[in-house]
Amino acid sequence: MKLNLHRCRTLPNVLDAIGNTPLLRLKAVAKHVPDVEVYVKLEFLNPGGSVKDRPALRMVEDAIADGRFTKDKILIDATSGNTGVAYSMIGAAMGYKIQLVLPKNASKARKDITQAYGTELIYSSPMEGSDGAIRLVRKIVSEAPDRYFYPDQYTNPSNPLAHYLTTGKEILDAVGDRITHFVAALGTSGTAMGTTRRLHEHTHKIHCVAAEPAEAMHGLEGLKHMASSIVPAIYDSTVPDEIMPITTDEGWDMTEKVAELEGLFVGHSGGANIAAAIKLAERAQAENGGGCVVTVACDRGDRYFEPVRWEKSYVW
Ligand SMILES: Cc1ncc(COP(=O)(O)O)c(C=O)c1O
Repeated sequence: MKLNLHRCRTLPNVLDAIGNTPLLRLKAVAKHVPDVEVYVKLEFLNPGGSVKDRPALRMVEDAIADGRFTKDKILIDATSGNTGVAYSMIGAAMGYKIQLVLPKNASKARKDITQAYGTELIYSSPMEGSDGAIRLVRKIVSEAPDRYFYPDQYTNPSNPLAHYLTTGKEILDAVGDRITHFVAALGTSGTAMGTTRRLHEHTHKIHCVAAEPAEAMHGLEGLKHMASSIVPAIYDSTVPDEIMPITTDEGWDMTEKVAELEGLFVGHSGGANIAAAIKLAERAQAENGGGCVVTVACDRGDRYFEPVRWEKSYVW
C-alpha cells in the first residue's frame, strides 16, 4: 500500500475532512479509448459521504459570517438526501438544530442516516417529488420567517461558490493543463455551475458539459430534468458549453459496470456522470486523438441500500 501523506493527518473537527478528494483514473471502462485519460473525483470520500458536504458547509459558514444564521434559529431545507445528510453532520458538529423536508418516499437509508445525527424530518407528498418538498419548506418558512434559516440550495450562490473555490481548483491541482473536458450532471446545478466557472478561467479552453436526465420520469436520484422541473435560480444554461442527455439505462448500466470492472461502487448519478465522461472520451479519441476527461462520483452506491445496521431489531 502506498503512503498517502495527505490523508495521514490529525484533524480538529470532522468538517476539516471535507474536500481535497482524490481523482481515480478509470481503466477498464475506458479501454477502448487508450489515448484519453478518464478520471472520476471521489466525492463519496467526504465525511458526510457525498459531494454535497462542500456546498452545505459553505452555505452555513457564509450565513453565520453575515448573521443570517444564529444559534437561536433552526436550519430548514428541502433535500432529497445528500444535502440533508451534510446539513445534519454539520449541525451536529457545530451545535445547530436541523429540520429537513423530504418526500415521504425518500429511501429509508436517507431518513435513518439524517436522524442518526439528531435531525428532525418533515414529510412532503410522495407524489410531488423534490418540487413538493420545496413548496412545503417555503410555506413553513413563510409562516414563521424569524424562526428559521433557510439556506435554499437551489437559489443560494454559496452552493456553486463552494465548487468554484474548491472542486474546480482541486481538479486543476490534480491534472493541471492536461484536462480537456469536464462533465457534471445537474441536480441543484451547483457542481456544474461552480466547477465550470472555475475551469473556464483556466489558461486553455476546457470543454465543460452539463449532463441531464434524458427523461422527465427518470431513476437517477439527485438529478433534475430541467424542462419538467422548477428550474433552480442558480442554474444558468449559458455556463456549460454543452448539455448532454443521459438515459436512466445508461446511468444504471455504467453504475454496474464500474462496480464490476473497476471496483468502484457509485450511486446512479455517478454512473450517469461516468457514462457521459466515456461519451466525451470517445469523441476526444475520434476527433483529437486523445484528451483528459474529468467527472465526479457524487456518492456511493450503498447509500441506496436499506441499512440493516440501523434497524432497531433484527429479523434472522
Ligand atoms: C446523488 C446526487 N448526485 C448529484 C447531485 C447533483 O449535484 P448538484 O446539486 O451540485 O447539481 C446531487 C445533489 O443534488 C446528489 O444528491
